[in-house]
Formats: sequence, C-alpha cells, structure tokens
Amino acid sequence: MKVTVVGAGNVGATCADVLAYREIANEVVLLDIKEGVAEGKALDIWQKSPINLYDTRTVGVTNDYARTANSDVVVITSGLPRKPGMTRDDLISTNAGIVQSVTQNIVQHSPNAIIIVVSNPLDVMTYAAHITSKLPRSKVIGMAGILDTARYRAFLAEALDVSPKDIQAVLLGGHGDTMVPLPRYTTVGGIPVTELIEEEALNAIIERTKNGGGELVKLMGTSAWYAPGSAAAQMVEAIVRDQKRVFPVCIKLEGEYGIDGTYLGVPVVLGKNGVEKVIELKLNDQEMELLHLSDKHVKEVMAVLDNMQSGS
Ligand code: NAI
Ligand code: 2OP
Repeated sequence: MKVTVVGAGNVGATCADVLAYREIANEVVLLDIKEGVAEGKALDIWQKSPINLYDTRTVGVTNDYARTANSDVVVITSGLPRKPGMTRDDLISTNAGIVQSVTQNIVQHSPNAIIIVVSNPLDVMTYAAHITSKLPRSKVIGMAGILDTARYRAFLAEALDVSPKDIQAVLLGGHGDTMVPLPRYTTVGGIPVTELIEEEALNAIIERTKNGGGELVKLMGTSAWYAPGSAAAQMVEAIVRDQKRVFPVCIKLEGEYGIDGTYLGVPVVLGKNGVEKVIELKLNDQEMELLHLSDKHVKEVMAVLDNMQSGS
C-alpha cells in the first residue's frame, strides 16, 4: 500500500512517522511546497528505521506529484496552522486555495485514492476537497472526530484516574466550539460515564474538549500535532487494513440526521472503500438541537467559501 501525506509540517510529518513506524503502509511519500523540507523529514524518518525496527520506505519530495502516483490513500495537511487569536475559520481563504490545488494534483495522479483532509477549518476544507475532486462522498473525508474524541477520553481518564484505553466515546458535529460530545454514548469499561462522575465535572470536561485545540494554541503558539497526526494515521490504517473501524469522521451528510449537504462529523464504518456506512444514532431532542446548531455554524462557513469563490 502506498500513502501520500501532503504537507511536511508538524501534523504531516507526525502522520508520516506514525505510518512508517507502525508499518501501516509499504511506502509513504511526504510532499511539501517548501524546497527540501519533505526530503529532509522523510530521510530522518527512514534513518530511524534501524533503531525502531520498521521497513516502510519513506520518501520526501518538493511538489513532485508524479512521485505520489497511484497512492491508495492521501492525507492533506498542507495549509496554515492556527496562531493565537485566530479561529479555525480565519484560515479559510488561504487554506481553501491550497487544499483545492493540492486536491487537483492528487486526483490527476492518484484517481483511485481515498482522500483524508486535515487542514483547517476542517469541515469546510473537506467540502473544498470534495467538490474539487468530484469523487463520491465516501472517498473524501475529514479528520477531526477522532482527535476531539481522544481529547475528551484523555480528560475523562485523568479525572477518573483510569486508563484512556477503557474509555469509549463518540462526538458529533463540526470541528470547533459547536462540536457535540455525547455523554449518553460515553462508557468506561462498559459502565455509563454518568454513573462515575458528577454532572458538573463532566460538563467541565465537555467544555475543555470543545476548547481543546485553542488550549494547545495558547500554550504553544501554534496548533497541536502529535494527536492530530496520530488520528489521521489511524484513519489511514482503518482503510489500508480494511478494518471496518467505527470512528467519527467528517463527511457530506445526505439526509442523515435531517441534514442535507453539510460536511459534519458523524460515526461511520471505515474500511477499504473509505466510508462504508454512515451510522445514524437515535439522538434525543437536546442532542439533535445541538447537532443542528453545529450544522448551522458549518453551513455559514461553507457559505463564506461559496461567496469567495463566486467573487461576491
Ligand atoms: P505547518 O505549518 O507545520 O505545516 C503545514 C505545511 O504545509 C508546511 O510545511 C507548508 O510548507 C505546507 N504547505 C503549504 N502550502 C502547500 C502546498 N500548496 N502544497 C504542499 N504543501 C504546502 O502546520 P501544521 O501544524 O502541520 O497544520 C497543518 C494544518 O492542519 C493546518 O491547517 C492546521 O490548522 C490543521 N490542523 C487540523 C487539525 C484537525 O483536527 N483537523 C488538528 C491540527 C491541525
Ligand atoms: C486542533 O484542534 C487547531 O484544529 C486544531 O488542535
């Protein structure tokens, strides 16, 4: 299996590293527009192979899409990261141009690839890549739900002093302050989380999760990369190993949850064909209301992109 990661910055290089050391692909091509950066990082990852014992070939290229040809999966991380004071939505104009030109090149050289978008604002960049690619919705998807759920699980594990491995959870909605964590679907070793934690403490964790990206931007002056890169690699693994994993993934909704045409995070089955099934949870009224608020927000940002592109 061949996987290309576009953007050899913090998230892209981390993703390529995880793909290599976990031998998720036979070949990983890292591509960046900045001369030498992808080559250098790919060489560094390759030179780590005798130490960490893996044999995934890792190659870096500067904007040479011919070298990415016939990739099975492509992860797009190219674009500006968030800086302090910026919302994810502030990134829209610059990153849409980057994501759309990258997608054109990818589709030209790897027409059968499944595309995973990571660049922000995530839901709208997934939209941008999808309309540019003209591929079915199952093959152009975004990574955010695994990261947001991981943050929620990590905070819960800390609060309950249990292993994060035993916390199962799902979040819905856009990658931003309107994401919808679902305590009703959160369990700790099979036990409903609501039996183990006070409502007030759980609500504080939900709020911290919603601001999880911003918390790290404040601390580091740029956005996170270890968890985001690993989350994207986990999606690649589900596809190349046809694992049929159930993850929250950003995809165009076509009537599910009463929403049509918006790109939102929902649980899906992820396998060799990309999204093989969109799972529709039986939400209660409050959860549905929160999801529709998130839908409204993402639709507004999609409209910003539409207006930019129609020149109005
Ligand atoms: P970074 O600045 O470290 O890396 C971005 C890389 O993209 C740079 O190396 C840059 O040269 C490259 N690039 C720019 N234009 C390009 C083009 N046309 N073709 C190829 N490469 C190009 O940024 P970082 O931290 O890796 O973040 C990448 C993106 O991922 C940002 O938009 C960030 O907001 C987003 N992100 C999304 C997350 C999510 O949950 N979906 C989580 C974390 C970051
Ligand atoms: C994150 O959630 C900023 O989207 C980025 O870390």
